[in-house]
Amino acid sequence: MRVTVVGTGYVGLVHGVVLADMGNEVVCVDNDPAKLEKLRNGVSPIYEPGVEEILSRTLANGMFRVTDSVAEGTKHGEVVFIAVGTPPGPDGTPDTSAVRAVASQIGSALDSYTVVVNKSTVPVGAGDMVEEIILEAGGDPSLFDVVSNPEFLREGSAVWDTQNPDRVVIGAKTPEAAKKLLELYEPMGTPTLVTDLNSAEMIKYASNCYLATKISFINAISRICELCDADVGAVAKGMGMDPRIGAQFLQAGLGWGGSCFPKDVAGLIKISDSFGYDFGLLKASEAVNQNQTPHFLRRLEDRMGGFEGKTIAVLGLAFKPNTDDIRDAKSIEAVRILLAGGAEVRVHDPVAMPAVKAVLPQAVYCDEPYATGEGADAVLLVTEWKAYRELDWARYGSAMRHRVLFDGRRALCRAEVEAVGFHYETIGSRPLLGTPVADQP
Ligand code: UDX
Repeated sequence: MRVTVVGTGYVGLVHGVVLADMGNEVVCVDNDPAKLEKLRNGVSPIYEPGVEEILSRTLANGMFRVTDSVAEGTKHGEVVFIAVGTPPGPDGTPDTSAVRAVASQIGSALDSYTVVVNKSTVPVGAGDMVEEIILEAGGDPSLFDVVSNPEFLREGSAVWDTQNPDRVVIGAKTPEAAKKLLELYEPMGTPTLVTDLNSAEMIKYASNCYLATKISFINAISRICELCDADVGAVAKGMGMDPRIGAQFLQAGLGWGGSCFPKDVAGLIKISDSFGYDFGLLKASEAVNQNQTPHFLRRLEDRMGGFEGKTIAVLGLAFKPNTDDIRDAKSIEAVRILLAGGAEVRVHDPVAMPAVKAVLPQAVYCDEPYATGEGADAVLLVTEWKAYRELDWARYGSAMRHRVLFDGRRALCRAEVEAVGFHYETIGSRPLLGTPVADQP
């Protein structure tokens, strides 16, 4: 099938190359000349495992190409995906200006029946908005249908998730449009749900907000565990053994970040408000998330007797492992708190350092993880990269001034690090007796 994808971010690019690899003729559109140049040379503008390999393969076999012209893409595609960014506006409402601009360009270029698919996360009702914009731009109503096909991929495993989705959701007004997408996804053999446009858009928000709330729930439990001397790891394990709850997304930590959960939670709160429903549950989930990192940093500060004049190492800056994305990363918040307290902060991340350096030039950027520990009074693990789980902690500790390890992701083995002399603290279990911790709400 001839397919066009407008937008080459995490969603658009991965979707484009995977569809090309399945034998579709794919054109990806982007308005950033630097990105297009990289893509033409087989270089991925984003760090995402596996993307470059498929990009090179599909460029070489001619199934994938790029252009800066939405009009050219529209004329090419029987199906045109809109996968451009919808960043949160100042009040949390998703900014749909890029979606609107693309819809208008599609409207003026339509010359044969095209299914226009919204993959960007957009407020409920945006499908109708896209339809109106295409009509206003001169699109003939008999030449297009608008469909919502939300994306559920996770960064870091985006290729796998796109090739092996749990479900395909298609929100369509006409059977003809739904049929076209069913045909496109048929080779994946994935369970499919065809529904109306608004429900499809709501499925995306409801899923992300539910997952974020599940994490906030276990993070709230972690706070009680710290107070009553229980261990949140054991609690999550016991809860997760109930198949009605499930073990996934019950990992307590510094809180959720990234390009989706914070934006979608804020977005659904706003959308609910606009329809006259006060989504208190989601507001509480957001509040738990906002408190988690400051709380753990207060524990560290109490342990250190203040940050002033201390050297603190920070391992991991990306919002989660296997990505270079730092949007709403807890690392930024943690490093800001440490710097504001007067600490020297020595940081490392396998791929996200250049992005963070642009925002926080005051930190010391180390080429390899062991260098962060030199002269450090404590080390804070923020992102649980595999490389950090596998560090030689005896070697790491030997360069430190004090062997204090605060694990913000419950990623390390307490017995192992204690065996080489570390004082170890983590989220959701009480610090060792005798350690003063001022716990504030
Ligand atoms: C998420 C959804 O999982 C995906 O379906 C959707 O399409 C986009 O949003 P992503 O943002 O890539 O994907 O990352 P995800 O793996 O879901 O993690 C989000 C955040 O939650 C990260 O900050 C992660 O550290 C945190 N998290 C996740 C936890 O704190 N505990 C968990 O148990 C799981």
